[in-house]
Amino acid sequence: MKGIILAGGLGSRLYPLTYATNKHLLPIYDRPMVFYPIQTLVNAGITEIMIVVGGPHAGHFMGVLKNGVELGIKHLEFAFQDTVDHNKKKIEGGISHALSLCENFADNSSVAVILGDNTTDTDMSGAVKNFKDGAMIFLKKVSDPNRYGVPVFDGNHKISSIEEKPREPKSDYAVTGLYLYDNTVFSRIKTLKPSSRGELEITDLNNSYIKDGKLAWTELSGFWTDAGTYDSLFVANEYWAKKHL
Ligand code: DAU
Repeated sequence: MKGIILAGGLGSRLYPLTYATNKHLLPIYDRPMVFYPIQTLVNAGITEIMIVVGGPHAGHFMGVLKNGVELGIKHLEFAFQDTVDHNKKKIEGGISHALSLCENFADNSSVAVILGDNTTDTDMSGAVKNFKDGAMIFLKKVSDPNRYGVPVFDGNHKISSIEEKPREPKSDYAVTGLYLYDNTVFSRIKTLKPSSRGELEITDLNNSYIKDGKLAWTELSGFWTDAGTYDSLFVANEYWAKKHL
């Protein structure tokens, strides 16, 4: 399985921290944020990785990661997620759009995808080893589900749909930013329409797997947080500082 880290976007929620560099290169205790999802993939045995970058500081990634060998990566590629096309027409961005840029890299294999601002100490290797087809998502109980994709369960504990940042969440689970997808993911993304906020949403992609009865889920064990807001960045720093000390 190949690995993909989505680290595009502008990180505007973290201004002024992200005026001078990319969000995913900000420190979480003793290492840049993007080291964490890389480590999660490498620990799961995934060493061919593409990182989707974007924004005005995209070049900083190379300076920090170099060829990735020090982190255990065997093959590192980058893609640039632009916000305009070659005719200077604005493109609908979003997480699914960022993922679509990895089609050639995936080369018909399945992919493990992690959002670049997610940090976790979970071990994905079992899920990666057992993955056959469809999609697999990882849920975590949270106190503020309305910040995330939130699963709606039917009576049999199966997910009937996922709602993105619902005002009134129907469960107290967040869909974390770790996903396993088979190679139908790229044709599915081509069928997505931009959401009301003008993005190709990862939640719509996951809902397309649900519609076909092809989405499995598991509860993520261990620590997980995103680090894309001041508060969550602080929580991540606190946790990893204690763990690394
Ligand atoms: O952290 C988990 C949550 O991440 C999920 O529960 C949500 O369903 C999912 O939509 C996402 O929500 P966020 O609002 O936290 O997404 P955000 O816009 O902060 O993007 C998260 C990462 O995805 C970001 O660090 C880089 C990558 N990304 C995002 C966008 C919008 C891209 O690579 N390109 C993009 O265009």
